[in-house]
Amino acid sequence: MSKNLGRFITFEGTEGAGKSTQIPVIKDWLSDQGINVVTTREPGGTDLSEKIRHLLLTENMCAETELLLMFAARKEHIEQVIKPALKRGDWVLCDRFTEATYAYQSAGRAIDRQYIAYLESWLQGELKPNYTFWFDIEVVDGIARAKKRQALDRFENEQIEFFEKVRSGYAKLAEERPGQFVKINAALSIDDITLQIKTALQKFL
Ligand code: TMP
Repeated sequence: MSKNLGRFITFEGTEGAGKSTQIPVIKDWLSDQGINVVTTREPGGTDLSEKIRHLLLTENMCAETELLLMFAARKEHIEQVIKPALKRGDWVLCDRFTEATYAYQSAGRAIDRQYIAYLESWLQGELKPNYTFWFDIEVVDGIARAKKRQALDRFENEQIEFFEKVRSGYAKLAEERPGQFVKINAALSIDDITLQIKTALQKFL
């Protein structure tokens, strides 16, 4: 693969898995190699999408509304940030993407995944992550970490059973998309996790 092709790399996992710690480290490592890197997140990444994020994290709503707002935020993000960056040949490191919708809104909230598959294909077309690093951690350990960090948002306030379903949702996707998913043992040290990610990314360099 050519070096000047943009790459779309996403980071997933249940709360407190440590993905947000790794993204800046990987960004610096790639930048040191002369790669232009854009770091971003979902829901969010544009002014409008960040406003939608605020609604999603604070307002009570039904599961279907939540799903549609996730995709509304995503569509703006794709058109304004992700596609232009990939077209320039930049790498995009994104904290969560559509795989989170399968895990949270389908596995977690029991929305039929056919609706998500339809939205994914309609709104994304060919756009799919080259790699998804799935930070897997025991749900209780992740929640304990998240609680230490800051006040909990609407999602983080869910019950353990919800996150167990989300975790199973990620496991199912990882099984279905073996070429895309790289499972990371998020209980390892920060340095060990960084090494695993760097090793997996070597094939694009
Ligand atoms: P964050 O705290 O990792 O930035 O994500 C905010 C929350 O949004 C997190 O609890 C997971 C949730 N989420 C979904 O439920 N579906 C999605 O599609 C995305 C991108 C995030």
